[in-house]
Amino acid sequence: MLGRVNHVAIAVPDLASATQSYRTTLGATVTEPQALPEHGVTVVFVTLPNTKVELLEPLGDTSPIAAFLAKNPSGGMHHICYEVEDIVAARDALQASGARVLGDGEPKIGAHGKPVLFLHPKDFQGTLIELEQV
Ligand code: CO
Repeated sequence: MLGRVNHVAIAVPDLASATQSYRTTLGATVTEPQALPEHGVTVVFVTLPNTKVELLEPLGDTSPIAAFLAKNPSGGMHHICYEVEDIVAARDALQASGARVLGDGEPKIGAHGKPVLFLHPKDFQGTLIELEQV
């Protein structure tokens, strides 16, 4: 079912500072910030030769990463995103095996304009998993 790692996401309290850290200290290529109100985050992508790192800052009062940052005030690894060829087929197979899909179970359009879903971390070794159809 799983293809490549599309990205690893890190929740950060201060996107400008995190961007500066990756751009200047780590010498990485970093995109401009992109506000995603539907997902409650502003995102910057760190572009690497084999994958991407997504830096996430809360956007709005009901950001899904607010509780995570309350527990991890300096930030931390938030989720890993795996590519799938058919997200609806993947969802159906996962639900049939008892895995929980977050939200209403319908794919949403993610930061790359492609459908995404999130899987419950308690079903996957304490790790929030995002699936993205490529
Ligand atoms: Co993501």
